[in-house]
Amino acid sequence: MEAYNIILLGLLLLFALATSFVDAKVHHHDFVVQATKVKRLCMAHNRITVNGMYPGPTLEVNNGDTLVVNVMNRGKYNVTIHWHGIRQLRSGWADGPEFVTQCPIRPGGSYTYRFTIQGQEGTLWWHAHSSWLRATVYGALIIHPQEGSPYPFTKPKREAPILLGEWWNANPIHVVREATRTGATPNVSDAYTINGQPGDLYNCSSQDTVVIPVDSGETNLLRIINAALNQELFFTVANHKLTVVGADASYTKPFTTSVIMLGPGQTTDVLITADQPPARYYIAARAYNSAQGAPFDNTTTTAILEYKSAPCPAKKGLSTPPIFPSLPAYNDTNTVTAFEASFRSRTKVEVPTDIDENLFFTVGLGLINCPKGVRARNCQGPNGTRFAASMNNESFVLPSNFSLLQAHQQGIPGVFTTDFPANPPLQFDYTGNVSRSLWQPIKGTKLYKLQYGSRVQLVLQGTSIFTAENHPIHLHGYDFYIIAQGFGNFNPKTDTSKFNLVDPPLRNTVGVPVKGWAVIRFIADNPGVWLMHCHLDVHLNWGLAMAFLVENGVGELQSLEPPPADLPVC
Ligand code: C2O
Repeated sequence: MEAYNIILLGLLLLFALATSFVDAKVHHHDFVVQATKVKRLCMAHNRITVNGMYPGPTLEVNNGDTLVVNVMNRGKYNVTIHWHGIRQLRSGWADGPEFVTQCPIRPGGSYTYRFTIQGQEGTLWWHAHSSWLRATVYGALIIHPQEGSPYPFTKPKREAPILLGEWWNANPIHVVREATRTGATPNVSDAYTINGQPGDLYNCSSQDTVVIPVDSGETNLLRIINAALNQELFFTVANHKLTVVGADASYTKPFTTSVIMLGPGQTTDVLITADQPPARYYIAARAYNSAQGAPFDNTTTTAILEYKSAPCPAKKGLSTPPIFPSLPAYNDTNTVTAFEASFRSRTKVEVPTDIDENLFFTVGLGLINCPKGVRARNCQGPNGTRFAASMNNESFVLPSNFSLLQAHQQGIPGVFTTDFPANPPLQFDYTGNVSRSLWQPIKGTKLYKLQYGSRVQLVLQGTSIFTAENHPIHLHGYDFYIIAQGFGNFNPKTDTSKFNLVDPPLRNTVGVPVKGWAVIRFIADNPGVWLMHCHLDVHLNWGLAMAFLVENGVGELQSLEPPPADLPVC
């Protein structure tokens, strides 16, 4: 009898194992990066796309699945693809930032990204991580719960990804090259987009405005992604409440709001119930612009939430226009602060305590005096300077001969140093009237070394050098807890009382408030080289970045996997 029971138990175990293997799927995709004719704002433009689609294909997987994406570069620019927010545990070679974890895929070349999604559910996205290609090379990456597991909220009737983008009539690559040449700010965009379409407030766009159909009474899930290059955006739907249930592929305690704000890189999942009179309602997004006096694109992109029972809009000119929402003022920081303060993890979480690494990084702009021998036409920033940006006064420069990860793994000297400072080289009134002599960052390729498993606290302190503004800071390879945000200079004596060590939100991108600070914590449990940068691409170009070098641990599953055979080299 005993033996019989043991055999039965064994069979059951085998069955459970077998089904769990069946559950995790491997998804194969081909991404062909190619030039495509895209008609927007009254003109046809040649743009780089994936598979001829703008935005690119939506990838849908379940937690635990593996993605294998073969990227073929048939365009004329170097390209890499980054899987924004995917932890890439031990698979750093698949992360994608150019010259950080790989060299670019050259025109004609290819590279296969292979990675497994472990313990993440919700909305992420993918985008090019080379020059400004991500203006048109991006798409949604949706992670459903494991087969058979429910959402921790009412099952939505329908789901729709909402990708907010930014459009230039000029080739974005030319826009950034021009800015790099002159040292001045790049031209602002000509439109924002929802799922690739500007919407009917722009010329020649009404025919193609995105329509999201709904039935009265149903509750749907919108997966909103800010894929804009350089702009934080407010998002709202006329007359409808939005219930936030997740952000950056982590669930949140549900809270209800009429407007949300996303920095580039951030995602927010909201439930929306069609509880209004059947009609057509505008979905709208426009800038949250926290920098005073800086030029920005002040246009508004729209889509339409359309009740299926609404009177038919077919007869043009006869139908009433959709109902328009009210949007916060462009500089409405109070709304942003209140919105971000509402975020909590869905349950109590284990926030790292007993901190091993107490870091304090300033984030902000700078101006570099025109170097000797450089022509005035290359120094068209304010007063004959070139724009720059830095963390702890270090303006990050990418290598060009090796990727940082390859240089680290193969011990190649001269590519980077590991002396990125744990604190600003000088203490000053960061958010006050900063002396002009402190505006000059230093260029370099400095990494900060973290031992495997170390518990990290990082204060991100905004500065008012040149102009203060909200910076969406993104860390590759990690999610982190945002334990506090505030204004002014972070005060370690008093501001620790604001720390939420119970249920802080887990995210991969944090908005550092304008003239303020944010504190994040994470455990360095993913070996590799991980870029941390401002997700406003213009600031990334100016050097608002650094990278962590996380060493291998000693355990079996604590070291970086070997590089794939087809890894592009420089
Ligand atoms: Cu979404 Cu370094 O990127």
